[in-house]
Amino acid sequence: MLSLFLFVIHSYSRNLIHDEPGKFRLILICWKPGHYNAIHDHNGSDCYFKVLQGRVREIQFQKQSQKSDKEYDEGEVCYLESLNLSHQMSNPDSETIAVTLHLYIPPFDTCHIYDPNGQQIEEVVLSYASEHGEPLYDDCHQLL
Ligand SMILES: [Fe+2]
Repeated sequence: MLSLFLFVIHSYSRNLIHDEPGKFRLILICWKPGHYNAIHDHNGSDCYFKVLQGRVREIQFQKQSQKSDKEYDEGEVCYLESLNLSHQMSNPDSETIAVTLHLYIPPFDTCHIYDPNGQQIEEVVLSYASEHGEPLYDDCHQLL
């Protein structure tokens, strides 16, 4: 399954696997060594993620303060509740990729980006590097 979805551009890549409108969405995120995303919320949706390969670091924030800072190994599952929480994820390893599977309930198409002080910077529309195994950009490629 992994070989179908590991498309990356110049950064971490979000790959849409399955969408049930109004119910849930599954995406696969591929993290190159050292890559990270911005501090963001999930616009009221719940999130579960599982590490399929490698290791990821996740920092959770509640309003303006850091709530937790954990690393998750392959096979581990994390839950981010929807209310008042935001988080930042990264691949802390300098040599190996990481792959995480994310379940969002319900699906969401925009999220909010925050600075480290908890101030909202912007609302962004989420995009994908691939959908259902088809790359959406010319510079996508498979890692495996
Ligand atoms: Fe997230």
